[in-house]
Amino acid sequence: MDWHAARAALEWQIEAGADEAMLDAPLNRYDLAQPAPAASPAPSAPDQRPPVPMRPAAPDPGEQLAAAVAEARRLAGSATDLPSLAAAMGAYGHCELKLGARNTVFSDGDPAARVMIIGEAPGREEDIRGKPFVGAAGQLLDRMLDAIGLDRSAGGADRAVYITNVLPWRPPGNRTPDASEIAMMLPFLERHVELAAPDLVVLMGNTPCQAVLGRAGITRIRGTWIEALSRPVLPMFHPAYLLRQPLAKREAWADLLSLRARLDGAD
Ligand code: URA
Repeated sequence: MDWHAARAALEWQIEAGADEAMLDAPLNRYDLAQPAPAASPAPSAPDQRPPVPMRPAAPDPGEQLAAAVAEARRLAGSATDLPSLAAAMGAYGHCELKLGARNTVFSDGDPAARVMIIGEAPGREEDIRGKPFVGAAGQLLDRMLDAIGLDRSAGGADRAVYITNVLPWRPPGNRTPDASEIAMMLPFLERHVELAAPDLVVLMGNTPCQAVLGRAGITRIRGTWIEALSRPVLPMFHPAYLLRQPLAKREAWADLLSLRARLDGAD
């Protein structure tokens, strides 16, 4: 295999979510000893025992999801502040994404900020560092915010921003979160917004629009202020989309100016 083929194979594995070595050396599981087949039972007299009761039917996936959402709602509702919400979220065991994640990515920035930004889910960098929007898309987000005088590392009402995601755990291979993952984590997100109590919320891309507004179609709804989560929310293009489609930065700039105008009370 030449260098280019080896690199393409490696990138394919990373894309599929296999981005971490489990052992120091490869293990060929086909070479492992197979368990001995069970000895065939000796012929016996007809079975006189009473019939074994049938196993209960497998739980209905819809009921399982409803129970998982109810548990999320109960845990989120009992959190009285952001640290207890972060702890409740970290302890929530129904979302399997948690099993593959290195960190529960809760938030970054100043919770007292007037603006709260909601993204989709951590990517690889965010999973490693435990903070939202720290990879390439996050760096673009920082530059976008800076252009309208906002800064996640600043305190104080004027410049501060608070940042979180719909999901706190990285989906394998950065795939789009599915509907059940969003449904399970939505009670935590709603409580997060309630406790942080920002004046304005920005929804970055389709996933937070789907979660919060119940609809996607960011190309159509971006730039329109909508009342949700008991406050004005602004759907915008996700910075990762802007990295792929730089021409869309024109619309993103218009949306940033709209956000600035709202903050200044001029809109
Ligand atoms: N994309 C997101 O939506 N959130 C992050 O934290 C990083 C990338």
